Amino acid sequence: MTEAILLVGGKGTRLRPLTVNTPKPMVPAAGVPFLSHQLARARAAGVDHVVMATSYLAEVFEPYFGDGSQLGLHLEYVTEEEPLGTGGAIRNVASRLHSGPDEPVLVFNGDILSGLDIRALVDEHSRAAADVSLHLTRVTDPRAFGLVPTDGSGRVTAFLEKPQTPEEIVTDQINAGAYVFTRSVIDTIPAGRPVSVERETFPGLLSAGATLHGMVDSTYWLDLGTPESFVRGSADLVLGRAPSPAVPGRCGERLILESADVAQDAKLTGGTVAGAGAAVGSGARIDGSALLDGAVVAPGARIRDSLIGAGARIGADTVLDGAVIGDGAVVGEGNELRGGIRVWCDARIPAGAVRFSSDQ
Ligand code: GTP
Repeated sequence: MTEAILLVGGKGTRLRPLTVNTPKPMVPAAGVPFLSHQLARARAAGVDHVVMATSYLAEVFEPYFGDGSQLGLHLEYVTEEEPLGTGGAIRNVASRLHSGPDEPVLVFNGDILSGLDIRALVDEHSRAAADVSLHLTRVTDPRAFGLVPTDGSGRVTAFLEKPQTPEEIVTDQINAGAYVFTRSVIDTIPAGRPVSVERETFPGLLSAGATLHGMVDSTYWLDLGTPESFVRGSADLVLGRAPSPAVPGRCGERLILESADVAQDAKLTGGTVAGAGAAVGSGARIDGSALLDGAVVAPGARIRDSLIGAGARIGADTVLDGAVIGDGAVVGEGNELRGGIRVWCDARIPAGAVRFSSDQ
């Protein structure tokens, strides 16, 4: 058995307003808090003890997941008084680990949806006798990411900042946000101050001659940090493109939780999820979107690639395309909201107030 640290303390600023009331790992994806998918996948890979490193809105995790026994896990929670960053958070939970100095400890970012073969990462870590092993994924456009080149044996040769010029794109491999640390390495991270594992710990270990191993696994991978990727990830879970044992129902075009009320002639497609207590009126068409708990969509609305927060209300015939509607917001009828618009929690948009086109 292996133990894992889950980093769930970030502020999730890029996902606002959905992270105003809810920390990013607790925002529902395919009907359950995103973290449920990660915990279920870790459990399936043989992890039995998970320490959650919490900070922002720390109090909401334990009431939901408890001691983890329902998931077959032993869960513990540690809260930082001041956010310690990714490396500081790992160091801060070290005293809760049971592993011996030479044993492997998994670390997961709390916002990555992936099909990573977790066992293979642990096995490669042992085989390579590495100090730290990183899951690497390949991306078609590496410009937005820090790059992690490796040599023929998988040994990491550098940690490069976001490339500024084409010559600097020396690899398409990026840090995918899942690591194995040899336990004793965690104890070398400085305690009691913010540390970034990506910017400080990994480059520092490399220049000190440590063995950092990279394992490229090119199965499904998505960083759910932005609204566009979060709604994509939720839809992919519903469609069965992203693997998770925690999807509460059969995979397919739509997932309608039992307590949701969807009109018979409403059309939900493309991995749309209707969360607990959500309601969808007659003739509404919703594609590739997520309605969080208690969200209400009035008849005739047309919604695509959008996230509707808990208890938010969308008026009749309103069009949403690539929109994020915060918890409790009310969008009156006949509006048209497109292209990355973010409506804040509890905001009110009157009927017919916003349009992107001149028709009607
Ligand atoms: P943005 O604010 O949108 O960048 O999101 P974020 O706060 O989640 O930051 P980022 O995506 O870089 O974080 C990667 C992972 O580390 C996420 O799972 C965060 O929850 C976690 N994380 C980031 N900072 C901290 C921290 O100070 N403490 C803890 N415990 N976790 C953190």
